[in-house]
Amino acid sequence: MGFGRGKVILLGEHAVVHGCPAIAVGIERGVSADAKVAERDLLRLAPWDMALRPDPRGSEPLERAFAAALELYPERPALELSAEVELPAGAGLGCSAAIGVAVLDAIDQTLGIERSRTELADAALAWERIFHGNPSGIDNTMSAIGGVALYRKGEPLEPLRSNKPLHLVIGYSGESSSTKEMVASVARQLENDPGRVGKSFEGIEVLVRSAKLAIEAGDHIALGQLLDLNHTILSSLMLCTSKLEEMCQAARRAGALGAKMTGAGGGGCMFALAPKHDEALRLCEVLGQDAFVAEVSA
Ligand code: MEV
Repeated sequence: MGFGRGKVILLGEHAVVHGCPAIAVGIERGVSADAKVAERDLLRLAPWDMALRPDPRGSEPLERAFAAALELYPERPALELSAEVELPAGAGLGCSAAIGVAVLDAIDQTLGIERSRTELADAALAWERIFHGNPSGIDNTMSAIGGVALYRKGEPLEPLRSNKPLHLVIGYSGESSSTKEMVASVARQLENDPGRVGKSFEGIEVLVRSAKLAIEAGDHIALGQLLDLNHTILSSLMLCTSKLEEMCQAARRAGALGAKMTGAGGGGCMFALAPKHDEALRLCEVLGQDAFVAEVSA
């Protein structure tokens, strides 16, 4: 069975596309996939009840991504893949990258190809590029490797160590968004106002560097404050919706150490950092029926 995890960017999304570092975690929820030799290439996706053929010029990004994935295997039999997706799509949890990683992992296993998880992450970038033209590579990397890590484009992933687990609660606004459009909106702002946006990226980089120290020291109070500050910068880049804002405020009022939108924004998910497991469960109730707890060990 192939597997790709979902991911939560703790700090640094968007700035990471422009070369700044970001910190992300891999979560247990993700995508599992199975591949078998068949008469024709087909990708089935549950629970969406979708079955697609690879098509490099198809109207669906998934058709094009499937074609790009199969091109990585020039000599192969026809393959039928079945993927089980446990993540909401267009919600900032790296659903598209997780499908790509799971699909390639399943094909590798079926064809007896050995690849490290880092090589798998690199291969899955071809898939991710179909979904948005300029991915930083953080989604496919965290999906393949997981853990808690500092990522910077073009550099090896730097795993972070701590003896204190992170109690995260992930809430879904119910609004889906397009990463491609949100990344393009930040690129436009950068082009029109490089001073303002450049300062925002510098600010985010300082927060990421401090957050690395806070995670390693197990100082979750400091980490929570850094999350709130990163959220404010993302709001100033017009990436946050009123629903996400309300959810973050509700989580803070209910005792979260910090709360922040995550991923591309314009909808999708936010997360809160809880002081303990029990409080994470309580925050889950505050954040609505789709909320779930992710305990992550660095
Ligand atoms: C999307 O999960 C994160 C972004 O920073 C885009 C990327 O890094 O490719 C918005």
